[in-house]
Amino acid sequence: MWKMIVVVAAVKGGVGKTTSSIYLAALGANRRPATIVDADPQAAAAEWVEFSDDERLEKVNVIEAPTDRLLSRALDRLGGEDLVVVDTPPAHDRLLGKIVERADVVLIPTRVGGIEAPRVEAVLAMVPAGTPVGLVIASARTFTRDYQDALAAYAEARVPVWGTIPERVGIAAGPARPLFEDGLEAYKKVWRRVQTAARSGG
Ligand SMILES: Nc1ncnc2c1ncn2[C@@H]1O[C@H](COP(=O)(O)OP(=O)(O)OP(=O)(O)O)[C@@H](O)[C@H]1O
Ligand SMILES: [Mg+2]
Repeated sequence: MWKMIVVVAAVKGGVGKTTSSIYLAALGANRRPATIVDADPQAAAAEWVEFSDDERLEKVNVIEAPTDRLLSRALDRLGGEDLVVVDTPPAHDRLLGKIVERADVVLIPTRVGGIEAPRVEAVLAMVPAGTPVGLVIASARTFTRDYQDALAAYAEARVPVWGTIPERVGIAAGPARPLFEDGLEAYKKVWRRVQTAARSGG
């Protein structure tokens, strides 16, 4: 195995970046050393790992790196076999552009809704050619027409959707509760797609 940098990126706040970063790191930590690099000065991912009682997160290391310079240093320093998940800050396009340049895989969390698609486009435009990139639809109501329409639109635009995470109170509980079973199941599929994409290199 080699060092794998998964960047969880969105230009919009509140779409599920931190939740996705936490679940992926917890799943990945099962097999290899896993580190969350928290590039958000709000440090929500770092706090989640710190305050959670979930034993799956005990194995996850955290590095807080909210600036360009700290982030580069953290990514350079990490071990050769590590899984590195980078949680990114909302509305910081310049930093985001730098971070995705370092990615082996980019995961874009999004939600269903009219104004979301252009925001996904904005991130896709930042990702260097050849870097694998896919979406995760977070906090979805999968039985709605809007959800089905969004899936159809991404399929037509040939934007890969690597998974859908259902809306669950147990996921929204964050560090207050252990990682939620439905969330783990849904993110497991996303994690497999991330790994496959990383191996194929795009
Ligand atoms: N599958 C889900 N079911 C229910 N609630 C969810 C789900 N995923 C995320 N949420 C909730 O949505 C909100 C935003 O999620 P999260 O903090 O992960 O997004 P973010 O993109 O990191 O936000 P920010 O831009 O503020 O960093 C949180 O309240 C979170 O608990
Ligand atoms: Mg966040």
